[in-house]
Amino acid sequence: MANLKNHKNIKPESFRKEETAIIIVPFPAQGHLNQLLQLSCLISSYGLPVHYVGSETHNRQAKTRSNGLDPVELAKVHFHDLPTPDFHSPSPDPNSLDKFPAQLQPSWNATIFLREPVRDILLDLSSKSKRIVIIHDILTAAVVQDAASIPNAEAYILNCVSVFTLFFIRWESMGKPLLVDAEPPKGLPSVLECMTEDHMKFVASIVGYLNHQVGELHNTSRVLEGIYLDLLAKEEYGGKGKQFAIGPLLPVKKLSLNSQDKCLQWLDKQEPNSVIYVSFGSTTSMSDEEVKELAMGLEESKVKFIWVLRDADKGDIFDKEVRKIPLPEKFEERISEFGIIIRDWAPQPEILAHSSTGGFMSHCGWNSCIESISSGVPIAAWPMHSDQPCNALLITEILKTGLTVREWARREELLNASSIANTLKRLMASQEGEEIRKRAKELGDAVRKSTDEGGVSRLEMDSFIAHITR
Ligand SMILES: *[C@@H]1O[C@H](CO)[C@@H](O)[C@H](O)[C@H]1NC(C)=O
Ligand SMILES: *[C@@H]1O[C@H](CO)[C@@H](O)[C@H](O)[C@H]1NC(C)=O
Ligand SMILES: *[C@@H]1O[C@H](CO)[C@@H](O)[C@H](O)[C@H]1NC(C)=O
Repeated sequence: MANLKNHKNIKPESFRKEETAIIIVPFPAQGHLNQLLQLSCLISSYGLPVHYVGSETHNRQAKTRSNGLDPVELAKVHFHDLPTPDFHSPSPDPNSLDKFPAQLQPSWNATIFLREPVRDILLDLSSKSKRIVIIHDILTAAVVQDAASIPNAEAYILNCVSVFTLFFIRWESMGKPLLVDAEPPKGLPSVLECMTEDHMKFVASIVGYLNHQVGELHNTSRVLEGIYLDLLAKEEYGGKGKQFAIGPLLPVKKLSLNSQDKCLQWLDKQEPNSVIYVSFGSTTSMSDEEVKELAMGLEESKVKFIWVLRDADKGDIFDKEVRKIPLPEKFEERISEFGIIIRDWAPQPEILAHSSTGGFMSHCGWNSCIESISSGVPIAAWPMHSDQPCNALLITEILKTGLTVREWARREELLNASSIANTLKRLMASQEGEEIRKRAKELGDAVRKSTDEGGVSRLEMDSFIAHITR
């Protein structure tokens, strides 16, 4: 990093755009599509040409659901809509004890059919530019494998999970060597219990294509995960070249909060910090029974809420056949004074940034964590799969800006309404909750500062841009 610091005063406008083309290759799961799209807009705002390359269906998904993006920046991104490979798009199984979104695996496996069209785009752009810079998801490493043999190509990974999670996954895969500078946290889940065997095989099929990348970008801030960034950068832990912590670089500051949206208008009428936002992301399906306990728990807690009640995504989100999740009888009438239920896509960043929102009951996907942390909102953690149990540990035990609703170790038991109500009351109406909220606000301030001009995250982004346009 040291030699890059010299470049930090370069003004974005002075980069010569024709020389470097940026090619972004996302992985088709909402949290990943979103981060790579946000990154595209961010890089494009430096005046560089950015190409977002994916299947027609998943590019459309990314655009349809882009939350809080500046339309001017979005219009500058060149979208390459490749023919969508054929894949089976089954419905999620809400009754599965294992919450991993196995229904998406066929669409993930099908990404390998993008290899050839992606190679053609890489070759074409490489012939027209001094350098092409490929930024891809770890999980699209096989799709972009041909970059390794293009002389003027340089590849980076955008890590879409927390550095804490990434580090401990690598550490586990290395056989858990003795750590010199850190303690492994208590209760760290094994990656094997967080993913299906099928998915582990898919991951194994990709590992061989992770050797040519020259650096990694992380959607996190040193303020949050400095220790783990330093650990990850060490050669003995498999750091892949230069590490840039460029996050969160949220669009939050640009959000207009006087929106026409019904739930934002409702929030305007509530007391500060009085509402809990409840959402489990786009990959979780709850059974009818779980939904019923959650509904009764919310009602029993008497805490005001906005609840996003959706079934998990299918591989093709435009396939409209979705389950309508039933609620207890007359529930909606009874809660109409103190709750709102949203059955489609919610303006999550705006909700979290609203001063009436005082808590977030979340599955702890990294997007949700970052959005919550940056908005200074404490989390009631209910992790479901993948990186979420690790992220939940980071939030509750290390950053101490949240409480656990559901312990990972008891994930196969039905969580009852009174346990849910108790945690909600602890977070939203107790001295303990106040202290957690205070810490969350302080951390949010520090993180937002790091992304302002002159802040650590902004400097790392500037140095990344200076590096790729050198
Ligand atoms: C996905 O790919 C992996 C590894 O290549 C394979 O083991 C698995 O059976 C495939 N799963 C599906 C659902 O296609
Ligand atoms: C990081 O994640 C947040 C939350 O989804 C997103 O809003 C932001 O744009 C991301 N930043 C980058 C550089 O990907
Ligand atoms: C709810 O679950 C908790 C924790 O498992 C248990 O202690 C409690 O007795 C249960 N309450 C009801 C009403 O079932």
